[in-house]
Amino acid sequence: MTPKSFRIKSFGCQMNVYDGERMAEMLGAQGMVAAPDGDDADLVVLNTCHIREKAAEKAYSDVGRLRREDGSRPLIALAGCVAQAEGAEAKTRSAMIDIVVGPQAYHRLPDMVAQAARGARPVDTDMPAAAKFDVLPQRRRAGSSAFLTVQEGCDKFCTYCVVPYTRGAEISRPWTAIVAEAQVLVDGGAREIVLLGQNVNAWRHEGQGLAELIRALARIDGLERIRYTTSHPADMTDALIAAHGEVEKLMPYLHLPVQSGGNRILKAMNRSHSAETYLATLEKMRAARPDIALSGDFIVGFPGETEADFEATLQLVDAVGYASAYSFKYSPRPGTPAATMEGQIPREIMDDRLQRLQERINAHQLAFNLSKVGSETQILVERAGRRPGQMIGKSPWLQSVHVDTSARPGEIIDVAVLSAGPRSLAGAVRRQVAA
Ligand code: 5AD
Ligand code: SF4
Repeated sequence: MTPKSFRIKSFGCQMNVYDGERMAEMLGAQGMVAAPDGDDADLVVLNTCHIREKAAEKAYSDVGRLRREDGSRPLIALAGCVAQAEGAEAKTRSAMIDIVVGPQAYHRLPDMVAQAARGARPVDTDMPAAAKFDVLPQRRRAGSSAFLTVQEGCDKFCTYCVVPYTRGAEISRPWTAIVAEAQVLVDGGAREIVLLGQNVNAWRHEGQGLAELIRALARIDGLERIRYTTSHPADMTDALIAAHGEVEKLMPYLHLPVQSGGNRILKAMNRSHSAETYLATLEKMRAARPDIALSGDFIVGFPGETEADFEATLQLVDAVGYASAYSFKYSPRPGTPAATMEGQIPREIMDDRLQRLQERINAHQLAFNLSKVGSETQILVERAGRRPGQMIGKSPWLQSVHVDTSARPGEIIDVAVLSAGPRSLAGAVRRQVAA
């Protein structure tokens, strides 16, 4: 039976959120409707993430839980990076999976749904260079902050990472397609655009880099804020750093994963930077934009990591003073070089290091938030808060700010920051800046 309603569940990174939105738009264009929360859907798309351990196991158990009490089940599509990694194998591992569709093939999802409705079990994990973008339907509505994928894939081959295998080689979408999509998003209500890519700052097209693209997007009327994520230190060009000092709409926030502060470990990870070159890049960034909020990713317990290597990571965290950071226990990924390296670290040591690292990061995050208390800033209102009359918006530094206001999502308002906690700020309205 042809499904009439669908639900898409996205896990993992923002690229998956973007892909989920585009799949929803496509299914919508076919006349299907998104099932309201809590309602049953005829088609469920699990848009999965493969970055850390047990991703596949989790996906299969999520599939299993889709069986209804009466024994029936929706049509099920396994999408995202687990689908890419598992391929046709997924159908053997779970008889409930009707469709397997990789991140570069989801433009064919409507076709695959039609085939599955007739009883077939199609698999498509092709990786053509971004062919999907040419055939996806035009975007329409957008929230106050909208994602826009400009780059996909990774050529860096860090030894722990599956991304080069699941998302393929680095490709950049063409300039004109990106500017056109940005304009549609702004026309559809977006005030902020977050440019996405696994290596977003590796974006290149016809001799232009991300800095030039950002300058062009900044000329779009009605677009007030531009962000981009995730960047690689090797692609942090002087032009991009300069743009942070010059383009007012480019927000003072940079997510620049370092992974470790120990140079021996960085080498074993095949990162192209050392702790020193990374810090030098951040110094240039701070010179261009003194109030920049810095964020990063860390892996603890990479094979061979000694206590001294880990201490170097803590020192780097102190030297940078991150406004926020994500940290993970190393997780061996089948097929990656690090998975078979000697010196795999016992779980207890990883747990201990992760806890110590997170304590240190949290302290810096709180200090950064507290440094804003007593200042005035602008927030982009995004959604309703828990209390009636309360709204939550984002500061330029990507902090969540709670305020009592009648302003609606998409409005930018002046607020005074009254207090700060580890995860958010509380403010009071000054006046409305732009509707
Ligand atoms: N184990 C643990 N963390 C990982 N990451 C990527 N691969 C692994 C892995 N095998 C982390 C990195 C990356 C973030 C998206 O996920 O820190 O920046
Ligand atoms: Fe993975 Fe490294 Fe590429 Fe990031 S840069 S996606 S961590 S291989």
